[in-house]
Amino acid sequence: MAKIKVAVVGLGNCASSFIQGIEYYKSIKANRLPGLMHDEIGGYLPDDIEVVAAFDIDERKVGNPLHEAVLAAPNCTQVFAKSIQPSSVIVKKGPVLDGVSDHLQLYPADRRFQVSAKEACDVVAELKESGAEIMLNYLPVGSVLATEFYARSALQAGVAFINCIPVFIGSDPEWIRKFEQAGLPIIGDDIKAQVGATIIHRVLTKLFEDRGVQIDRTYQLNIGGNTDFLNMLNAERLAMKKTSKTEAVLSQMDVPLETKNIHIGPSDYVPWLNDNKVCYIRMEGTQFGGVKVDLDVKLSVEDSPNSAAVVMDAVRCCKLALDRGIAGALPSVAAYTMKHPLHQFSDETARLRMEQFIEGVIER
Ligand SMILES: NC(=O)c1ccc[n+]([C@@H]2O[C@H](COP(=O)([O-])OP(=O)(O)OC[C@H]3O[C@@H](n4cnc5c(N)ncnc54)[C@H](O)[C@@H]3O)[C@@H](O)[C@H]2O)c1
Repeated sequence: MAKIKVAVVGLGNCASSFIQGIEYYKSIKANRLPGLMHDEIGGYLPDDIEVVAAFDIDERKVGNPLHEAVLAAPNCTQVFAKSIQPSSVIVKKGPVLDGVSDHLQLYPADRRFQVSAKEACDVVAELKESGAEIMLNYLPVGSVLATEFYARSALQAGVAFINCIPVFIGSDPEWIRKFEQAGLPIIGDDIKAQVGATIIHRVLTKLFEDRGVQIDRTYQLNIGGNTDFLNMLNAERLAMKKTSKTEAVLSQMDVPLETKNIHIGPSDYVPWLNDNKVCYIRMEGTQFGGVKVDLDVKLSVEDSPNSAAVVMDAVRCCKLALDRGIAGALPSVAAYTMKHPLHQFSDETARLRMEQFIEGVIER
């Protein structure tokens, strides 16, 4: 089976987990390992994915081989792969644009990004030379200009696009049209992690709705110690993240809550948590006879493998679309894998539709 050639933008913790996962699941041919939503998709196994190009701006990553860069500071996620195969891919510097927030300067150098003094490369030329088929965007939250730059570069180089972050590209009709015209699939936006805060909050919301319990108020507080949480201390970068996370939950309600009764957001940065994310969800409702019910949930999870599990499937579905000559949005895949797709479904329906896409029962 041909490899799936991927270009990665932003070699942070999520990219590290994704690349480690390719190694970790190599043994899947011999025996089934836990943690995957699909062992194979259309015949593609996790280790059919090959990272052929990588872009970052950090001096501890740029100019270094991929297998070293994914383990370099400030990455702090768990190293679960016994080893990462030495790679001949050298990380290239991309343009910084709005990728790095000024407030990071206030924090210790080993916790934040350090911009390399090297010149930015020609991203389109690198993409073409590498033979990449799919670009994965893992930039920091708030990187609007940088995400648009990489999306344009993907279009120019003839590369499909998976947008793992909350900048609205894969859910934007205008960007979708551009990819459709270029004959390329696009999946976005903002990865919905395997068992993360969003899917738990959505499923509980649906449960309350289906069982006739009126939701009166809810919050979702998220705390972590990685650079994603450090970056998100800058409230100016958060608008789309809050929209993405809040709409993901509101979409599961027949009558959406008033804004004053729902609070969802990154809530604080605790350095010693590293890539461990702690999430508190509270739901207050009214059930039979007007009687009150409260539900409190705490989730503690390593943030980056949680997203990598889902990206592993999004990449293989994107490759299926390429193989089948399908361009533009893939609503079935986006609804299951992303927090902010073009069209929201319940997670049960989204899962069913993604299976139908994989089996070829529905086109997209
Ligand atoms: N962990 C999850 O479950 C999850 C879920 C959904 C979305 N996300 C999003 O995925 C993204 C990546 O998360 P992460 O934890 O890997 O973040 P991270 O901070 O660990 O990594 C970001 C990387 O981008 C690099 N970078 C910054 N500006 C750049 C530029 N202009 N060009 C190229 N590279 C640049 C940084 O040097 C760093 O290596 C974030 O936006 C995050 O919110 C994560």
